[in-house]
Amino acid sequence: MSLPKAELHLHIEGTLEPELAFELAARNGVSLPYADTDELREAYRFEDLQSFLNLYYELMAVLRTERDFEDLANAYLARAAAQGVRHAEIFFDPQAHLARGVGMGTVVEGLWRALGKSEEAHGVSTQLILCFLRDESAESALETLQAAKPYLDRIVGVGLDSAEVGHPPVKFREVYEAAAALGLRRVAHAGEEGPPEYITEALDVLGVERIDHGLRCVEDPALVERLVRERVPLTLCPLSNVRLRTVDVLGDHPLPAMLEAGLLCTVNSDDPAYFGGYAGDNFDAVRQALGLSEDQLRELARNSFLASFLEHDEERRAR
Ligand code: HPA
Ligand code: ZN
Repeated sequence: MSLPKAELHLHIEGTLEPELAFELAARNGVSLPYADTDELREAYRFEDLQSFLNLYYELMAVLRTERDFEDLANAYLARAAAQGVRHAEIFFDPQAHLARGVGMGTVVEGLWRALGKSEEAHGVSTQLILCFLRDESAESALETLQAAKPYLDRIVGVGLDSAEVGHPPVKFREVYEAAAALGLRRVAHAGEEGPPEYITEALDVLGVERIDHGLRCVEDPALVERLVRERVPLTLCPLSNVRLRTVDVLGDHPLPAMLEAGLLCTVNSDDPAYFGGYAGDNFDAVRQALGLSEDQLRELARNSFLASFLEHDEERRAR
């Protein structure tokens, strides 16, 4: 499906395909506990968010140099472009790299080598969003923001990801205030596995402009009403929801009801190398499994540009 669209929920580390993981492992002399790509793919059977995160963090061991991050981002941008992505707001998880002795500069400069040429090379404009790991401490998040200060011209905003339950948004009040004071945009994962209250808290305490996932808002009609009224975008990731078992099968996904309710929904890929598809694949999957009309698909594509951090003459791109 090549309808022009923006991708707003994409973890760059989650685009690490098995073939590239083995190539980088060989290049960097890192040994992986899998014999080959087939055996690695066998490990892609997840019970929940945490079982995915364990593999996601494990495979990051192969990412060591600027060139690795550049190659990772170029591979994603080429695939995204082929699926109609014209603009991508890309998450990265610096704490997961800093903990392995890979510096902020290596990550950001490496990604930038690809992102800085992306419009020309792939026809995809890009932004970078630095995510804090919510299962790490609030102090660690503050240190991470501090470490990012030399690179703020390359970073549009901050986000919050990793294991959600037990790590409510309020834990990160201070670092979000600091990010806002630096002029950074704010988003956060909320309501993926965590309760609807985390969505409310992300809006009221962290001041976020978009909610990543937000799926569990459907459990609270008053919250749905608020999200509709305030036009808060939700960056849904349907294939991710099936793989991480937040919905049983794609045919049960609440996306049609959410659109019907007037929510500003977008469709994204989250961690496409792990969840079975890139942005266009997610569009194709929801069209097939949920019987979305052409109008609804166009609405989703239009929403993706409206919800982006681009200035809004970009609606033109959606035509
Ligand atoms: N949820 C939370 N954290 C993440 C995800 C996700 O889907 N992907 C990468 N980190
Ligand atoms: Zn995510």
